[in-house]
Amino acid sequence: MSSDYHKDLARWMPLLVKVWRSRGAKNQKRPRYEEDEDDGTLTPHEQKQVAQGVRTLSLGLTRDRQLAGAKYMDDPALLGAYLLFYWPVSYAQARQALGELPRPREVLDLGSGPGPMSFAALDAGAAAVTSADRSKAALDLAKALATEATEPIATREWSPERPLPDGQFDLVLMGHVINELFHDGKEVTPAVLDKRAALLEGVLAKVKPRGSLLILEPALRDTSRALLQLRDRMVTRGYAVRAPCLFRGNCPALVKESDWCHAERDWRMPPTVEAIARLAGIHKESLKMSYLALAPKGEAWAEPPEGRLFRIVSEPLEGKGRLRFMGCGPEGRVGLAMQEKHQTEANKVFFKLPRGAVVKLDLTEPRGDGLALDDRSTVQVIAWPGQPLPPKS
Ligand SMILES: C[S@@+](CC[C@H](N)C(=O)[O-])C[C@H]1O[C@@H](n2cnc3c(N)ncnc32)[C@H](O)[C@@H]1O
Repeated sequence: MSSDYHKDLARWMPLLVKVWRSRGAKNQKRPRYEEDEDDGTLTPHEQKQVAQGVRTLSLGLTRDRQLAGAKYMDDPALLGAYLLFYWPVSYAQARQALGELPRPREVLDLGSGPGPMSFAALDAGAAAVTSADRSKAALDLAKALATEATEPIATREWSPERPLPDGQFDLVLMGHVINELFHDGKEVTPAVLDKRAALLEGVLAKVKPRGSLLILEPALRDTSRALLQLRDRMVTRGYAVRAPCLFRGNCPALVKESDWCHAERDWRMPPTVEAIARLAGIHKESLKMSYLALAPKGEAWAEPPEGRLFRIVSEPLEGKGRLRFMGCGPEGRVGLAMQEKHQTEANKVFFKLPRGAVVKLDLTEPRGDGLALDDRSTVQVIAWPGQPLPPKS
C-alpha cells in the first residue's frame, strides 16, 4: 500500500503550489507572471521566499525548539513554508506508516495542521476524515486543498482542553503534535508525560474495536525518547502496541541515555521539495520519523508468526569483514552479527536489510551481548518496512 504513494504525492504538488499562490498573493513581493504555471514548480524568487520560512521552522521545531507549542501556523509565511515543504514530508511519512495498518474508513486527524496526514489517509483508502487543529488558518488551508482535490474532509477547531469531535473512528492520527502539547519549553517531565498519557487514554476511547491510534513524531533524540516513555506508560496502563514494537516489556532503547528508536525510509523527494531543501540547507534524502500505533483498551497484542523474530532498528554497523545490526523482537533488543565469509543463499538477505524490516532467524549462536549468524543460519524477511506483519498461521 505504501509503495505507490510517490505518484499520489506528485499529483498533490501542483495543488499545494496553487493553493499557496492563491493565499499568498498579497504577501508576494513581485507580481505573478503568465509563465508562473501551477505545475508544482516554484520560480527561483518563490523558492527563496519559502526556503527562508523553512529555515525558521526547522530551527524552531527541530533545533532550539522555540517554536514547539507556539502558534507558528497563524503566521502566513510560516504556514506557507509548512505547506510547500513539511506537508509533502508528513504525507510521505504517513503513507509509509499507514502501510502497516488495516485500511481505515472513518479517520480523525488531531493536530492536523493543513492536513497532510488527513489526505494521506484518504489516499490510502479512507472514506471520511475529520481534520482538527487549534489553528483556523491551517484548517482553512486544508479545506482549500480539499476543494481543489475534490476530497471529502470536515474540519473542527480543537485543542486538548476542548472535547474531542463526536463519533468513533477506525483510525486516529496524531502527526508531529504530541511533542508540542503541554510543552513548557524545558525537558519533558514526568508530569508532562502523565498529561500526554491521559490525553491518549481519552483519544483511544474514540477508537473503534480493531482500530488504531497512530502517532508520528520527529526522529530527534529527545522527541523520540519522550515518545518511547509515553509508550511505556500506555503499555503499563494495559494498551497493546500494534506497530512497530514486538517486545511487550518496557522499551529497551530507553536503558542507555544515548539510545533512541526511529524509522528511516527511502523516498523520492518531489523536485520542488528538493529545491527548497537545498536552499534551506536541510537534508531530507531519507524519511526519518518515530512512530507508534496503539490498540484501543482491552485488545490484546497480536500474536506474531512462529520463529525467532527481530525488527531491524539500526542502520548497518559495518566492521572488519562483518556486518552488525541492532534487532528488537519478542525477546528484547539484541545485536545481530554475521561475517561476510558466512554468506550463503539462505542468509544473504542479511547483508541488504533496511531499517524497519522484520526478519526470522534460525540457527544462531549467542555471542557477547547478541547473536552471531554463520553459514548454517537462515534469514527470512517476513515484513519489509511499511508492510504489516503477517498473522500467526
Ligand atoms: C508540526 S505541526 C503537524 C501538522 C501535521 N499533523 C503534520 O504531521 O504535518 C503541529 C500541529 O499541531 C498543532 N498544535 C500545536 N499545539 C496544539 C494545541 N495545543 N492544540 C491543538 N493543536 C495544536 C499546530 O497548530 C500544528 O498544526
